[in-house]
Amino acid sequence: MTAQLISGTEISKQIREELTKEIADLKAKHGIVPGLATVLVGSDPASQIYVGSKEKTSKEMGIYSQRFDIPETTTQKELLGLVDKLNKDPKINGILVQVPLPKHLDEAEVLYAIDPRKDVDGFHPVNVGKLMIGEADFLPCTPAGIQQLLIRSGVETSGAEVVVVGRSNIVGKPIANILLQKQKGANATVTIVHTGTKDVAAHTRRAEILIVAAGRARYITADMVKEGVVVIDAGINRIGKSASGKDIIVGDVDFEAVKEKARAITPVPGGVGPMTITMLMMNTVKAAKLVHGIA
Ligand code: GUN
Repeated sequence: MTAQLISGTEISKQIREELTKEIADLKAKHGIVPGLATVLVGSDPASQIYVGSKEKTSKEMGIYSQRFDIPETTTQKELLGLVDKLNKDPKINGILVQVPLPKHLDEAEVLYAIDPRKDVDGFHPVNVGKLMIGEADFLPCTPAGIQQLLIRSGVETSGAEVVVVGRSNIVGKPIANILLQKQKGANATVTIVHTGTKDVAAHTRRAEILIVAAGRARYITADMVKEGVVVIDAGINRIGKSASGKDIIVGDVDFEAVKEKARAITPVPGGVGPMTITMLMMNTVKAAKLVHGIA
């Protein structure tokens, strides 16, 4: 069997078209322009690229976008001051503070200072708690994108054996939580495996849907999956440079080998990656609708 490719690039394009139309309608019918503020502290090159794409995509879709590039040397107090100002700014519906923050800053304190109604990352404990009880306003972007990939490529999650590899707060724990809810596009039997798991392969081999966010290049090999599995690879690992000097990026799954056993699989790049930004846009639109009472 050679797997069907689940293209995040294609699915993302579809959702962006739907959202662009919705944004135009919001403006035409209600005079509402969703607004997103992105905050980047310091000059980490990968973070600059991520924040740049978030800003560019939001502008392309008709979202009002404000970008704040703050020097590495900023103090906790100054950063909290900016968050407070954005919390009070009616033009801003979503606030994204790119993480990781420089070491001298208290990341948790900054993220918790964001008004939960503007927390389009879904990182605030109020939103984490709401997700846990099935009442989320904002799903965190990468897991929300993974759920959309499954739904829009026709993968049935209800009753499926899902195994999640990795227990991060950004991907592993929230995707497990999303898929176990008694809701459409969810209702799965979910297992999380992690660095403390005794026999990872014993679990991954049972999976009908395998979601990998382990942060280890090509960690999942063909002998660790069963025939007919659906594989979602959230890994982004830079493993060197090509002859032309470009980063070589691979996922957490040994794609070439695993695709021969899988029913469907996401590529890296072009799988989960493009979905994350798209879901940020979806959350920003939702935040604007919620604050205006039309969600
Ligand atoms: N750093 C890496 N991914 C993310 C994300 O989804 N949101 C924020 N705020 N920072 C990140």
